Amino acid sequence: MYPRTPSGDQPQAPPKKKRIKAKVGLKERPQVVEIEVPEQDLPVWDLDAKLSVVGKRVLRVEGPEKVTGEAKYTLDYTPKDLPGLLYGRILHSPFPHARIEKIDASKALALPGVKAVLLFDKGEWFNPNEVLKVASEGPVSAPADRVVTYEGDPLAAVAAQSEQIADDAVDLIEVKYRRLPHVVDHEEARQPNAPLVHKGTKGNTVSGDPFVRGDVEQGFKEAEVVIERTLRVPVLLHNSPECHVAVAHWEGGKLTVWASTQGINGFRDELAKTFKLDPANVRVITQHMGGGFGSKFGMQAYGAMAAALAKQAAAPVKLGYDRHQENLTAGNRPNATMWVKLGAKKDGTLTALHCRSYGTAGIGRDAGVTYLMSLAYKVPHLRLEDSDVFTHAGYGMPMRAPGFPQGSYALESVMDDLAAELKLDPLELRRKNFVDQPLLALDEMYRIGAEKIAWNRRNELGPKGDSPLKRGLGMGTAVWPNYSGPPARSRVTIAPDGSVESAMAVQDLGTGTRTVVAMVTAEELGLPAEAVKVNMGDTSLELIAPDSGGSVTALSIAPAIRAAAADAKRQLFERCAAAFNAQPEDLAAGEGKIFVRHDPQKFLTWQQAAARLGTTAVVGRGERLPNVEPYANFPLWGAQFAEVEVDTETGQVRVVKIVAVHEAGRALNPAMFESQIYGGVMMGAGYALLERRTMDKPEGRVVNPNLEDYKMIGPEELPEIETVIVEPITPMNNVGGKGLGEPPTVPTAAAIANAVAHALGFRIYELPLSPDRVLDALEARKEA
Ligand code: MOS
Repeated sequence: MYPRTPSGDQPQAPPKKKRIKAKVGLKERPQVVEIEVPEQDLPVWDLDAKLSVVGKRVLRVEGPEKVTGEAKYTLDYTPKDLPGLLYGRILHSPFPHARIEKIDASKALALPGVKAVLLFDKGEWFNPNEVLKVASEGPVSAPADRVVTYEGDPLAAVAAQSEQIADDAVDLIEVKYRRLPHVVDHEEARQPNAPLVHKGTKGNTVSGDPFVRGDVEQGFKEAEVVIERTLRVPVLLHNSPECHVAVAHWEGGKLTVWASTQGINGFRDELAKTFKLDPANVRVITQHMGGGFGSKFGMQAYGAMAAALAKQAAAPVKLGYDRHQENLTAGNRPNATMWVKLGAKKDGTLTALHCRSYGTAGIGRDAGVTYLMSLAYKVPHLRLEDSDVFTHAGYGMPMRAPGFPQGSYALESVMDDLAAELKLDPLELRRKNFVDQPLLALDEMYRIGAEKIAWNRRNELGPKGDSPLKRGLGMGTAVWPNYSGPPARSRVTIAPDGSVESAMAVQDLGTGTRTVVAMVTAEELGLPAEAVKVNMGDTSLELIAPDSGGSVTALSIAPAIRAAAADAKRQLFERCAAAFNAQPEDLAAGEGKIFVRHDPQKFLTWQQAAARLGTTAVVGRGERLPNVEPYANFPLWGAQFAEVEVDTETGQVRVVKIVAVHEAGRALNPAMFESQIYGGVMMGAGYALLERRTMDKPEGRVVNPNLEDYKMIGPEELPEIETVIVEPITPMNNVGGKGLGEPPTVPTAAAIANAVAHALGFRIYELPLSPDRVLDALEARKEA
């Protein structure tokens, strides 16, 4: 998901600039660059910076709360937390396409314990997440012309005194459906006679403008070898551990919503718009959440319904999706059929790349996969064409690096096929064509990864030999664009008792954001991370931070926090300079002390210095400045290497090991950096081997909207994951870093698929590489 700008943010006047030097890049090959930065910006934490908290393996500040079960997630709210809390439940369509001829909720309303019933209509067809026309005044008759367009389409909701009553009430809602023809397969939906998913369109296929660089026909003329392949990937379901859920509470004209969301600011703005409220009267709170992966942006249907039910019932309401509904209506990673044509010189130099892809985001949009292809390698001539195919299925949502694992699988597979054609080592082909950006360490990442996986064994592995177990090695390049940047504002308060509070209206998805806030504050103040109390996850803080998508969070907020902490520190220095007989600018903070920079023996402990504040705290404020050109939009890179073992008798693929080498500029906390890699690799391995949403085509329903039949990766399938952090410090912002949530899941499936192709000696052009598919492919080769 790409960042959105929260409301209330005004563009700033261009700041005055100064020129500074920074020593950046890799420690092993530092480069001094001259950059122009805003005059008020803090010195860059470059290679010479002496940092005592940032860069350390600080444990998550909320860890103890989480492991003891004290951390409260939205899903945990009960009437003990909010007296009178009602439980909401949603009725969804069991059919993929139907007209609602009649819907009658009178029996549900009459059930004792039922406090509100809501029937509602959909918003605009192309953006089902936007805003529902919420009938908040409690009608019980159906809107005219109500057509459901996918299994899971919400139709009605109830709020009742217990979950059991809510379940019963939903069952009592009588709906008369008239089924309409449906299509859930994206190939069939492209046919001229396929049922239309959206009224008023010409067919179900929608294409955007192609991305063009150079002249692709010219590029293929220049090529000495050209190959063409078609590859397929399935629809994936996000399956965040915590399903979508919100608790809504009205007090007069003010609305408070606790939500499991990736963006409290965006959620607040959509609620305000839907319920016609001043955003100042809407408060969204997210303290802890169980993952989102792109599926939890905005208010969505459950958020709107929770607030509407609460209004109608005049009581707080908790409403969310159960696992089944989650997997029908909370988003998915679109599938794709990708035709790729790649041309190169005999020495492996790429000359042209053409990709045509179509995939389905169900009734929604954004099934594109080719963005990665415009970034991953140097190709002078490119033509990239993405199409969305509408089907009668739940809408797609961004999912961890939207479009990138799909595109990576296609491109890296074809790269390996090209290498085979050219009789080149696959890694050599990458080395010939990688993007050699200033400060980029990709060559170094290739070298380290190849060494760790022992790539030099590659020629000994493969299909030869009598054993049914075949081993193979494969790799792929990770790339992700940098989206981090303004707006982000922060507030740091130092109290006379020495306590420090760092506040920011940002949410922690479970990635460790809270710890980053504490660490960056502590670093600037010369304190340990545990000395900082973090106040976040609440829009009532009135500070702005991005919604957490596009791997923007840590590196969007860190410079703002630094600025706020520095501002608070400056004020503290002003208030205690007299005690040193010094000027405020002669003071420094470190190791829990305030001291005279040139005479560190003269110091006050942090507590003593803070006591000088008397009775008033100091409040520092800080804002994130724009990224520094020309580094502002440099992508993030990485390389992953996979070793697999394929059992040619059972079709089982075992991933033996993944070496994942990644960079994100400065690693603010290596332990959390690694945890992002682990998660990304796990998801990528599941994509390669296990996960697929399966549709019953005649019925138009999802066969596996649960965690039994939809197989996610578990301990049994987990490979050994060796992480390597490469740290090319970037001058892009004053903390020297970039974001990391998404890159580690980009090339995993591609690397595994390449390793499987190496092991088998032939390629299967479709994911997942499940045992049935591998066996079928082996069988087909025997027959051929
Ligand atoms: Mo995302 S797919 O949460 O940027």
